Amino acid sequence: ESLEDPLRLLATFCSEEHLDRLKEIKNPRLWRDIAEVALVARPASIYVNTGSDEDKDYIRKRALENREEYPTVHPMHTVHFDGPKDLARDKGNTRILYPGGRQVPLINTFDRDAGLTEIGKLFRGVMSGKEMFVSFYLYGPRYSKLSLYGVQITDSAYVAHSEEILYRNGYRDFVEKGEELEYMLFIHSAGERDENGWSKNVENRRIFIDLEGNSVYSVNTQYAGNTVGLKKLALRLAVYKGYREVWLAEHMFIVGVKGRGGRISYFTGAYPAGCGKTSTAMIADTVVGDDLAIIHAVNGEARAVNPEVGMFGIIDDVNPRDDPEIYSILVNPSAEVIFSNVLLMEDGNVWWRGKPGEPKKGINYAGEWWPGKKDENGKEILPSHPNARFTVSIRHLSKLDPRIDDPEGVPVSGFIFGGRDPSTLPPVLEAFDWKHGIVTMGASLESERTAAVLGQVGVMELNPYAILDFLPISVGAFTALHFEFEKKLARSPKIFSVNYFLREDGKFLAEKRDKIVWLKWMEQRVHGEAQAIETPVGYIPTYEDLREIFARELGKEFKEDLYEKMFTIRVKGFLEKIERVTKIYSTIPDTPREFFEIMDKQTQ
Ligand code: PEP
Ligand code: NA
Ligand code: MN
Repeated sequence: ESLEDPLRLLATFCSEEHLDRLKEIKNPRLWRDIAEVALVARPASIYVNTGSDEDKDYIRKRALENREEYPTVHPMHTVHFDGPKDLARDKGNTRILYPGGRQVPLINTFDRDAGLTEIGKLFRGVMSGKEMFVSFYLYGPRYSKLSLYGVQITDSAYVAHSEEILYRNGYRDFVEKGEELEYMLFIHSAGERDENGWSKNVENRRIFIDLEGNSVYSVNTQYAGNTVGLKKLALRLAVYKGYREVWLAEHMFIVGVKGRGGRISYFTGAYPAGCGKTSTAMIADTVVGDDLAIIHAVNGEARAVNPEVGMFGIIDDVNPRDDPEIYSILVNPSAEVIFSNVLLMEDGNVWWRGKPGEPKKGINYAGEWWPGKKDENGKEILPSHPNARFTVSIRHLSKLDPRIDDPEGVPVSGFIFGGRDPSTLPPVLEAFDWKHGIVTMGASLESERTAAVLGQVGVMELNPYAILDFLPISVGAFTALHFEFEKKLARSPKIFSVNYFLREDGKFLAEKRDKIVWLKWMEQRVHGEAQAIETPVGYIPTYEDLREIFARELGKEFKEDLYEKMFTIRVKGFLEKIERVTKIYSTIPDTPREFFEIMDKQTQ
């Protein structure tokens, strides 16, 4: 069968109505791409999703019929289970395809030809008997020069359902743009599924990122971090495109902080897992995004859009006291929610750690569950998995920023890099300038391994820009890109580092709610309204300014001896950090020479 007449080929898979939907998009390359997948994967039928209410309902219904999702007491809430071996991103099998399999330190690469051959084999007939969904999405606001486009092909109704919640459906944009439209292509199959509905061949799980083809292939997995194309798979393609065109795709939230006279200043923030990213986003005054940012230089100004309109968040320990905003959305029967890998109890209610009440008999990520159930090693099985998640529209947030859909994006006043550091970094620190911040805060971002025993000084792990897991190029090249990006700016955002985890005698020096104080200080700094003390590692706040902000924001007296403990520059710790980080970068290609100069200067 030939791809020369893709519509004729597609007519053998699609009903007339769905073929017409494809014909509406006058883009022969797209028809060929879809036909090629169908030709190899051999689905029983193709469903072309236009994002209409009928299509959304159908996809949801199919997810329930396929047992990819289960109903709960609330019609708008469903539960998905990934199975015990498919509960997180698979780093080992997620590989960047490079011609010749070029080795890049810290990046998991693989030979492109060998990778595409392997994928071809794994996809052969993989969708037989199944329905293939084709969906079209925007990766950013409609009619924005900052936005990208993506096509998702999948045999999982759960993946399509997730994307309908998390992204803006772009069918009509594809129709309007026709042939000129450039898109990322995501091809996924859950593979054969067992009697529980879990992917059966997880040992053949593969997530291959083809930079040259602007495509990602994912097979034998269901976990959203591995399968939902526009989430972390698109991030790799976007980073690569940005690298070539000099703009930034970042693993950052975008939030607004209110200042004098009610003005809003926007900050983007990158934090490795477990360092306070979500809680910072939720404590800010407005939220544009909780996870991803696309940042361009527009007329000399850094402007950011959120490519998403939903959250795929960790639900473990979300409770009414600490996370009132998220919690209230998750228990709101009229909000559409997909819960994944929580406990679905016999009475049709869901339970996760943090939800009031006791977990009762039901099913979870490992099958049937009852209190006290043990695994084959005699270890108790948790009712809800630590990486259990919720998928929900960001539009339910009461603090949603009104500019979420602004095609111009929001102006970025500051970048924040947040790590978990028990012993060295002060709660907040401002870089001397862009390059100093990029090098000593972004590229040098570390976090204490979260498994570290409390009280013990943990092992520090480098996670530059909190994006290491999603980086398709060397982190040296990514740093050089940030230097290049600055050349396009008339005024660059200020750069800050934050650390909520500084401890003394095993006790945290800052309280959880203090986060708002550091944000407000940064906001004032951006407008030249707060003082700072110059130290060898950057600017720190004055005691007087912080005392004033603590009183105003939290009605709390800020003691001078606490200030001294928090903001004493721990020289030894900084020197050790520079040494650790420089050692790693000295092995990484494309690291700009200036990186080492700035680190040397810092040491001096
Ligand atoms: C994930 O881990 O599955 C994921 C989507 O990324 P993150 O760790 O940023 O939530
Ligand atoms: Na490597
Ligand atoms: Mn993330």
